[in-house]
Amino acid sequence: MRAVDIIHKKRDGGELTASELTYLIDGYCRGDIPDYQMSAWAMAVFFRGMTAGETAALTLAMANSGDQVDLGPISGVKVDKHSTGGVGDKTTLIIAPLVASVGIPVAKMSGKGLGHTGGTIDKLESIEGFRTELSRERFMTQVNDIGLSVIGQSGNLAPADKKLYALRDVTGTVESIPLIASSVMSKKIAAGADAIVLDVKTGSGAFMKTLEHSEQLAQAMVEIGTEVGRHTAAIISDMDQPLGYAIGNALEVAESIETLKGRGPADLTELCLTLGAHMVVLGGKADSVDTAKELLRSQLHNGAALAKFKQFVAAQGGDEGIADDPSRLPSAPHSVEVKAEASGFVSAIEAEQLGLAAMLLGAGRATKEAEIDYAVGLTLRLKVGDPVNAGDTLAVLHVRENNETASEVAARVRDAYSINDKQPEERKLLLSVVTS
Ligand code: URA
Repeated sequence: MRAVDIIHKKRDGGELTASELTYLIDGYCRGDIPDYQMSAWAMAVFFRGMTAGETAALTLAMANSGDQVDLGPISGVKVDKHSTGGVGDKTTLIIAPLVASVGIPVAKMSGKGLGHTGGTIDKLESIEGFRTELSRERFMTQVNDIGLSVIGQSGNLAPADKKLYALRDVTGTVESIPLIASSVMSKKIAAGADAIVLDVKTGSGAFMKTLEHSEQLAQAMVEIGTEVGRHTAAIISDMDQPLGYAIGNALEVAESIETLKGRGPADLTELCLTLGAHMVVLGGKADSVDTAKELLRSQLHNGAALAKFKQFVAAQGGDEGIADDPSRLPSAPHSVEVKAEASGFVSAIEAEQLGLAAMLLGAGRATKEAEIDYAVGLTLRLKVGDPVNAGDTLAVLHVRENNETASEVAARVRDAYSINDKQPEERKLLLSVVTS
């Protein structure tokens, strides 16, 4: 086999076989196939696309390129959840204890944040003492004991994806649906879950800006799951404005605790209940999404979800006292109010800009090595559709120092809000569901 023949075949619209794709991925990982050939192939895929069978074969080749986590020692159906990333998305902090409280084992590996979206691991590490590095053995034992553990990604999961993603990033080949779908699913499959629930974000704050593209991506990922024998469901949710009101690590933990007490923002609560309900159905603990949703809603109101959260935090060495007293979380010494300059209705909020604002305050990393400040971030006071008068507070910045950076960020946040005379039409949060 020769890489150049595989490139020709794809360039001319042919369908690659599993052995051709495995040859390419393995050769690239070993360093036998150079970047320039892989780039040419990725560009051919970008223009020609891939069939469901090719996409599944590519996914498996990438999943097989490194460690495969065996969750076999954990009893029950292990259901994982993945979000394509969004601003203010703290759903894992809520869903993990929520679904664990009804007996779905959650054995989750999460990443640190980079850029404008924060990572679950950073949020958890804002809790005093919380450890996200556990041995595989301890991780499994904890899931068997209390039904839940969330740790940082360790080991060498899907190294082919890491290498290929870095190449795509600099060759204009990121925005290819089969390449994105195989990239996401290769990591999920290597992480060992039996079933996967995907939250595909759509809108200005998301990777996929249109519903049509988000649906195509969701479809492609569900097809991969089906082809490789992992039940997969995908929910498409709006990311045209941040989820909930808090952006920033400790601030998001506090909002998650409120949600686990049944007092969270409506959008965040609804998304968590929906994603969680699909996990419960795939995990075999309910026959329908509606039944599962009601079951989970009752767990938010009867204290069971919060109790599971406390048990989880304590098991990983964290201060579970934050659940009853969130003022024990890190907090920033100063706050800056961002005021509206016009009256009307909030007609749009650029989620990505608010994510960047939080990053500039220190809540996120501009580079992999950057240190983050758990206390800083922003709290929105107004969201899309809310009436506003000039001088009202749109959002509050939580800052370490009230300096020039804070003023610049305040201006950026003000610019991220659009104010219009007319009340905007209500946007639906949950746009569609794709199942196999
Ligand atoms: N996220 C991923 O993990 N992979 C992609 O290709 C794009 C987004």
